[in-house]
Amino acid sequence: MVKDTYINDVSRYDGKKVIIKGWLYNKRSSGNIVFLLIRDGTGIMQCVVSKNNVDNKVFESAQKITQESSLIVTGNVHKEERAIGGYELFINDIKILQIVSDYPITPKSHGVGFLMKNRHLWLRSKKQHAILKIRAEVIKACREYLDKNGFINIDTPILTPAACEGTSTLFETKYFDQMAYLSQSGQLYNEATIMSFGKVYCYGPTFRAEKSKTRRHLMEFWMIEPEMAYFDWEDNIEIQEEFVTYIVQTVLKNRRNELEILERNLSKLEIIKPPFPKISYDEALEILKKKSKDINWGDDFGAGEETIISKSFDKPVFIHHYPMKCKAFYMKPDPERPDVSLSNDLIAPEGYGEIIGGGQRIDNLELLEEKIMEHNLPRDAFKWYLDLRKYGTVPHSGFGLGIERTVAWICKLKHIRETIPFPRLLYKIYP
Ligand code: 4AD
Ligand code: MG
Repeated sequence: MVKDTYINDVSRYDGKKVIIKGWLYNKRSSGNIVFLLIRDGTGIMQCVVSKNNVDNKVFESAQKITQESSLIVTGNVHKEERAIGGYELFINDIKILQIVSDYPITPKSHGVGFLMKNRHLWLRSKKQHAILKIRAEVIKACREYLDKNGFINIDTPILTPAACEGTSTLFETKYFDQMAYLSQSGQLYNEATIMSFGKVYCYGPTFRAEKSKTRRHLMEFWMIEPEMAYFDWEDNIEIQEEFVTYIVQTVLKNRRNELEILERNLSKLEIIKPPFPKISYDEALEILKKKSKDINWGDDFGAGEETIISKSFDKPVFIHHYPMKCKAFYMKPDPERPDVSLSNDLIAPEGYGEIIGGGQRIDNLELLEEKIMEHNLPRDAFKWYLDLRKYGTVPHSGFGLGIERTVAWICKLKHIRETIPFPRLLYKIYP
């Protein structure tokens, strides 16, 4: 019996006859032989059609088939060191499902605008395929680390009644007779569920109407947010360090092939192990001033500042104790020095900048009420959140890691748009 198989499984069938279902990636011919490069989602395989060994009709099919045509082939698996993947297929039969004409993305190079408009097709390209496999591995590693370390995955809502990360980037939508906002972060809800489960995480899409067109910002991005009861800001940093190490080392172990397709310098990732450098905001300011960056105490760091800090270290670097006014309303002030917060960002190396934001949260009811007022937030919408400080409040901390920023760094991509299947960019929502 002939076995259906996937390309990444063909080594199990050396010398045997198999069926492969896929698409034509590329083709070349020389005289009486046509070489079809077929992809099936799991890999690319060289398939050989030799005029002398097949029916005329089969050979004609091989000659006329075009890039991205869908096809099912039957053939014999044969070990061949020089072939991509180490095996090739000697084809006996070809069934063409659809012959494609005028596939827009040809092997010649195209501009990014054109590729983005054809994102739904661009995803079939080798590099895009590799990036999204790495993305999947990053997400799997995040979950694996947290699941193995006693965190419970508790989902948080997407439609929310109030802001978490400032009111200037909210996406509004009508919710029957009131307004709702697409979630900017699941954090506030995590702070409720830790009081039931101790350590939790949420993972989902988050939305920010960022009026900035940069290589780091998406309007819709995916964030994994762990939150821990009885963790102070230093415990929080320690777990971020382990978490990011786990992610990078897991991708290195399981997705080496894809990293090689992207020509990633692996040695830059191999060194991503604890300890990571840790500097305060004040120390970061010193570094920036030495690099003649004109910046005042209290200013938040933008992309320019982050890039300088990022390039000053080989590993991700923690910046902690940001001024209170740089951070969201929930951030706990340092009791020793209330103008700075028990917050941290994690800045990825090689110029990538912030991949994590986190910190210890205010656990005192009166102070939290004050901050909600100071930030002009609607008190009614936060009533439930304030309850958490009334009924068994404890010190607690958490953080959020942006999946796309992390993937951009690990893959060393110039722009975040290639890290997500269908990016939502400023004013752009197609395809
Ligand atoms: O620093 P942020 O805004 O922190 C929070 O949302 C916290 N509530 C998280 C928490 O403590 N639970 O965002 C966290 C991370 C950033 O470090 C960045 O990686 C990513 O989310 N991020 C974005 N990624 C892509 N596009 C955007 N517009 C992003 N905004 C934030
Ligand atoms: Mg941030």
